Amino acid sequence: MTPGSALRAPRPIETVNEFAADVIAGLTAKPKHLPPKYFYDLAGSSLFDRITDLPEYYPTRSELDLLTKHAPEIASLFPPAYALVEFGSGSSRKARIVLRAAASVEAYVPVDISGDFLREDAARLRRDFPHLSIIPVVADFTAMTELPAEIAAKPRAGFFPGSTIGNFEPHEACAFLRRAGGILGAGSVLIVGVDLEKAPDILYRAYNDAEGVTAKFNLNLLARINRELGANFDLAAFEHHAFYNAERYRIEMHLASTKRQKVRIGETSIEFRAGETIHTENSYKYSVDSFQAMARGAGWAPLKAWTDGLFSVHALRMAQD
Ligand code: TRP
Repeated sequence: MTPGSALRAPRPIETVNEFAADVIAGLTAKPKHLPPKYFYDLAGSSLFDRITDLPEYYPTRSELDLLTKHAPEIASLFPPAYALVEFGSGSSRKARIVLRAAASVEAYVPVDISGDFLREDAARLRRDFPHLSIIPVVADFTAMTELPAEIAAKPRAGFFPGSTIGNFEPHEACAFLRRAGGILGAGSVLIVGVDLEKAPDILYRAYNDAEGVTAKFNLNLLARINRELGANFDLAAFEHHAFYNAERYRIEMHLASTKRQKVRIGETSIEFRAGETIHTENSYKYSVDSFQAMARGAGWAPLKAWTDGLFSVHALRMAQD
């Protein structure tokens, strides 16, 4: 679904200082930026769920269709008696498609940063898949270094859908793939959802929907800073800007100040020039070949890629050593 994904619990109080420090650091930097992980408070997560249903936002529909159509073939690539590990599982909607097709899966390990949400989802999964061990792990999957002891002896498959990999810088994406290989181990298979390069107008519309939900999602970051850090952003004086940067193969999301203004966050005052932007997220697009080249560089052998021309689902294998 998302970097970390769906409905999140409110942030615990000890992390307010970290949030404040990250916001001040980003807004006093040049150019100004904010970390995308802060998009996903409760309001942001439910806005994101609405994005995935928008007519212009094709990636979720494309990926669900590809997974449904090719689930038997995907499942046939997995080793016998394996554990499926999902990085940033959210509501596990996509994993369920794979799990339903997978005869020999024994355990499902959803990894997500939102503990409450993960526990609820685990209860539903236990009910719907009574033959599976469900082993939720509350962790930031980008910082995770090992798997639960219960699956240490089992072969593994990994699952990383949603083109969340595109929200990393390419060098971070490569580092993540390498680390996932280390965690999943020799002989493991990894299934990754990756959005494809395509005509800029289709990309533009996917991130500039007519209803303005993506704009609301982006602006919610400022609303959240107001709510949680007592800042005084005037939301009417900032605009959602999303555009395709063809040289870098990425959609960039920004919040642009419509005028010269000052915003106060606690003790700190931040000045904006008219038109100055806060860079909030990138969504990198890959060709099948460029993604496979990156995967090879991270130690994975590409097995197969399924596409509908808009989106791609890749199967990768980690060499036995
Ligand atoms: N990873 C997906 C993408 O880049 C989903 C996503 C993350 C997204 N952040 C977003 C979609 C912000 C719209 C706006 O498309």
